[in-house]
Amino acid sequence: DWTAASIVDEQVARIREQVGDRRVICALSGGVDSAVAAALVQRAVGDQLTCVFVDHGLLRQGEADQVKNEFVASTGAELVVVDEEERFLTALDGVSEPERKRKIIGREFIRTFEDVARRLNDDEPIDFLVQGTLYPDVVESGGGEGAANIKSHHNVGGLPEDLQFSLVEPLRTLFKDEVRAVGLELGLPEQIVWRQPFPGPGLAIRIIGEVTKDRLELLRTADAIAREELTAAGLDRDIWQCPVVLLADVHSVGVQGDGRTYGSPIVLRPITSEDAMTADWARVPYDVLERISTGITNACPQVNRVVLDVTSKPPATIEWE
Ligand code: XMP
Repeated sequence: DWTAASIVDEQVARIREQVGDRRVICALSGGVDSAVAAALVQRAVGDQLTCVFVDHGLLRQGEADQVKNEFVASTGAELVVVDEEERFLTALDGVSEPERKRKIIGREFIRTFEDVARRLNDDEPIDFLVQGTLYPDVVESGGGEGAANIKSHHNVGGLPEDLQFSLVEPLRTLFKDEVRAVGLELGLPEQIVWRQPFPGPGLAIRIIGEVTKDRLELLRTADAIAREELTAAGLDRDIWQCPVVLLADVHSVGVQGDGRTYGSPIVLRPITSEDAMTADWARVPYDVLERISTGITNACPQVNRVVLDVTSKPPATIEWE
């Protein structure tokens, strides 16, 4: 039988044995797995660990600050933040095809991380890279990642060989619920430990059409309202995740005051799921949907319609791109 405390003790001992007095690097994504993996390594080898957070400018409201402040405050880890919004937006300029967006973001992410890793490595050699690989990932990757054939998932997986790190994978034997328990045991805040899944390419794949600063700003506002209402209604643990999607190139007629509007729709995609391989649309109470809809149209004059996605996976996927 496991307890979070015994897992922490065991993994800390293993990490110390593997790493010795050498240096370790870790890319934080804002997600649970990389945060817990990094916190474990920090507990084991302290300031031999350097965390790197590539802010690609495609995160939701408050997420970058959460990594910069709460993660650092709760772990004491050394964090290098690289603000690369311009780089990613420039690379994405004029691109609306989903797979191209994903490839560009994956490529820029690796380039950025490589640059930072090289710089740190020049100061003092780094031998190890932390990965938040879980047990189900290990099992699944026996035959390659299923979903990868449908959408190219962007993780920190495909790092170039010339960087030559050995991997530290302290979550390799754990399931998600154990990872969360370990995170809480290590003192990570609930907002990080219970964070719902969020795709690596971020809001870029929730803007259907080209990604621009204005569209990101709009989607960030709409998404924050939806999340706030779902949280206030106590639905965070019932709902697996709720992508909020901007159909940027679709326009429909609306009316506001005595004026005609011609705005874009926002799609709400609340789902329930066990493992994201299949999903059902979540039966969110009408009054909660009403508050989200009114909140979004009040806050975003460019949006004159809020619609609900009532499709399961399959045939749809969870994300729209
Ligand atoms: P789909 O849209 O394929 O999503 O049904 C399944 C789950 O994976 C998340 N997702 C991603 N996660 N990088 C990630 O780390 C990605 O590129 C990516 N694309 C989708 C999605 O949010 C859902 O939880």
